[in-house]
Amino acid sequence: MSQANIGVVGLAVMGSNLARNLASRDGNRVAVYNRSWDKTETLTADHPEANFIAATTVQEFAAALSKPRTAIIMVKAGAGTDAVIDQLCEVFEPGDIIVDGGNALFTDTIRREKAVRETGINFVGAGISGGEEGALTGPSIMPGGSAEAWETLGPILTGIAAIAEGEACVTHIGTDGAGHFVKMIHNGIEYADMQLIAEAYDLIRRGTGLSPAEIADVFTEWNKGELESYLIEITAEVLRQTDAATGKPLVDVIVDQAGSKGTGVWTVQTALSLGTPVSGIAEAVFARGLSSHPEQRALAGGLAGPSAFAVADKDAFIEDVRQALYASKIVAYSQGFDAIRAGAAEYNWHINLGEVARIWRGGCIIRAQFLNRITEAYRADETLALLMAAPYFAKAVSGAQEAWRRVVIAAAQAGIPAPAFGSSLSYYDGLRAERLPAALVQGQRDFFGAHTYKRIDKAGTFHTLWSGNRTEIAAEDTH
Ligand code: 6PG
Repeated sequence: MSQANIGVVGLAVMGSNLARNLASRDGNRVAVYNRSWDKTETLTADHPEANFIAATTVQEFAAALSKPRTAIIMVKAGAGTDAVIDQLCEVFEPGDIIVDGGNALFTDTIRREKAVRETGINFVGAGISGGEEGALTGPSIMPGGSAEAWETLGPILTGIAAIAEGEACVTHIGTDGAGHFVKMIHNGIEYADMQLIAEAYDLIRRGTGLSPAEIADVFTEWNKGELESYLIEITAEVLRQTDAATGKPLVDVIVDQAGSKGTGVWTVQTALSLGTPVSGIAEAVFARGLSSHPEQRALAGGLAGPSAFAVADKDAFIEDVRQALYASKIVAYSQGFDAIRAGAAEYNWHINLGEVARIWRGGCIIRAQFLNRITEAYRADETLALLMAAPYFAKAVSGAQEAWRRVVIAAAQAGIPAPAFGSSLSYYDGLRAERLPAALVQGQRDFFGAHTYKRIDKAGTFHTLWSGNRTEIAAEDTH
């Protein structure tokens, strides 16, 4: 008998928590299915209050769902997702809805949505951010897919999403892969945010000699101001943690090689293909890569460089680092939103950037007080071409730029790597520059490849006869 209005396939921790969240909301009856029965059995036994309908087969799962059948797939991105989609397409009918809640690559989602749509079934790629805790208590949710699917899905997702400023952190991002695209950018910004915080920690630790626990207190203080965010909050927790086995700060016994599941790499690859700089995010990805080459680091250990680093005024340096962190964070978010704009133009999505900022204010890993400011900036001007130029952010980065420069200089002089701080400052200066050395690059390209150039004083495209009499000709005459 069809009794459930929503189903979840894939009952690892994220899927189980999402199912429990759904079941805890009025109006939902939840069907659950997992390829191996043991996870289903454990979930239903541990949570009788959820009153799950536990299916042993995909057929039973479909039969338990009222129409339009709606199922959220929570399995590891990749071949497993395709397998479950195929299974559901066998038992679902036109008008039903399949949601992929994993971290799928948006181009896979575009492909899947097109293929599934041919069966009359709706396919929705939905970014779900907030980790296992968020899945249970309220994630930020970024669904793509059709307007038809959103009609059914919207109220259900609104009921389980995090709430920020009284609003549910979910919105229909756009068609086909738009949701997974925006989730990918969220993860890219997450990488940049984490890298910037790590650089701030490293500079303070090495420049002031403060202990991890003392630096945790610094972050806790920062978390009361414009840097207030989930990542700053948990950083203080990680730095405060003592390792039970050794009694040392946990951060000092963790191997300093950062892993990644790949969403940051996707962000950079996609931004490069869209021709939009995401320098902070890219440096964060590169920093994880560099840290994971111990063999090269061992060989480089003997290379010359400064060793001692001690700042004269610890409090002043810590304040400089705070300002540099905030300015660099603004660059990272400005670049992330640029990439969303570029993706929307490329893939013909109508993405409301203010809505994206709004639903990132709660539930997701990058949730932060300053997302209210981003929401306000885009609500004030939906066509804003550069977030960093919005009045609030222009004032913030301009006010921080002297401290920012002092920190980048100090890091370079002390031989401390601060790639995200430095690249963000160069991006800021690149945008500000009245003339860029790109003019010289155009001259070089024209010299060896006759790739032509434009002039500042007249229309047209030109080429200099470098191997001839070095006169300039109109480009159309180069052949
Ligand atoms: C989230 C997180 C999550 C991400 C993990 C792993 O929004 O809940 O971004 O989706 O997959 O944090 O990220 P790594 O790429 O760092 O392993």
